[in-house]
Order: sequence, then C-alpha cells, then structure tokens
Amino acid sequence: MADVFLLIVRWAHAIAAVAWVGGGIFYWVVLRPALRTEGVPPAVARFAGTEFGGLVALSAWTLVITGAVLVFARLSEPAADVPYAAVLAVKIALSGWMFFLISGRRRRRTPPDGAPRGRLRAAADALGHVNMTVVLGIVVFGLSDVLRLLIERNL
Ligand code: HEM
Repeated sequence: MADVFLLIVRWAHAIAAVAWVGGGIFYWVVLRPALRTEGVPPAVARFAGTEFGGLVALSAWTLVITGAVLVFARLSEPAADVPYAAVLAVKIALSGWMFFLISGRRRRRTPPDGAPRGRLRAAADALGHVNMTVVLGIVVFGLSDVLRLLIERNL
C-alpha cells in the first residue's frame, strides 16, 4: 500500500515537473517567437500568459507537496548517504530559486497603488522569468537523475 502511494506521489511529481519545464520550453522556443510576429492580437498573448501562469502555479504547488513526501521517504532509507543529501540540498535550493522567480512574477501582477496596468505589460510580466526558470528546471531535472543514480548505486 505504501509502495502504491509512493508510486502515485512520484508520478505526480514527474508530471508536474514535465508540465512546468516542458511548457516553459514550448513558450520559449515556439510561442514567444510566434507572439512576436505581426498581427497577433494582444488578447492571445494575454490569454497565453494567464493560462501558463496558472499551470506553473499548480505545478509548483504539486512539486513542493510531493517533493516533501519523496524527501521523507528517501531520507528514511539507509541507501541515502551524504553525497545523496548534498545533491538533494542543491536541488532544493535551485527549486527554491524557481519558486522565488514565479512568486515575484505573481506579486508584480498587482500594482501596489492599485493603478490599472497596460494589458501587454501584464502579459509580459505573466511570462517573465520563463527563460531562467526553464534553465534552472533543466538543471534540476539532471540533478533528479543524479539522485536516482546515487540511490540505486547504494541498493
Ligand atoms: C521543493 C522542491 C523539490 C523537492 C523537495 C524535490 C524532491 C525530490 C526527490 C526526493 C526526488 C526523488 C529522487 C530519487 O530518485 O531519489 C525527486 C525526483 C524528481 N524531481 Fe524533484 N523535488 C523538488 C522540486 C523539483 C522540481 C522543481 C523539478 C523540475 C523542475 C523536479 C523534478 C524531479 C524529477 C523529474 C524527479 C524524478 C521523478 C521520477 O523518478 O519519476 N523536482 N524530487
């Protein structure tokens, strides 16, 4: 039963990671160049920004909650040694940076003085920091593979 629970948690963690990083790569490589072409209505850019922002927020929450369960499960195994804990600490720090970047974006969406924002400005903010989170996400993906390798080596 515990194995099934951990399987579901690992699956949710992986899907959330793929959705965030994969969505970011799609935006970076495909959507942003397309939105920069002439004739794309601002409403399309705004819609993409809002929807992608929602997906990222859901992914981030899923990663934090499922990540905490995975940390607990892994660190209670004897196979988790000091190198494993060190790589995990780096991974959590980089993930924290990703969460910080998206929380900044969400804060900026509401101006402090309550003044109305330009629609294009709001869309640009919504999609801001995507490049950095994608780069960090790709590194974090690699570290997750290293973690798996380290654990399997000690089994
Ligand atoms: C609070 C943040 C996070 C924590 C505490 C966390 C923790 C973990 C742990 C403990 C594992 C298991 C590693 C192993 O096999 O021993 C794992 C796997 C993984 N993590 Fe995270 N993680 C976090 C955020 C992220 C982020 C932001 C991403 C990607 C952008 C990510 C992607 C992955 C992937 C792809 C796996 C492999 C899943 C699998 O084997 O199916 N994680 N994570």
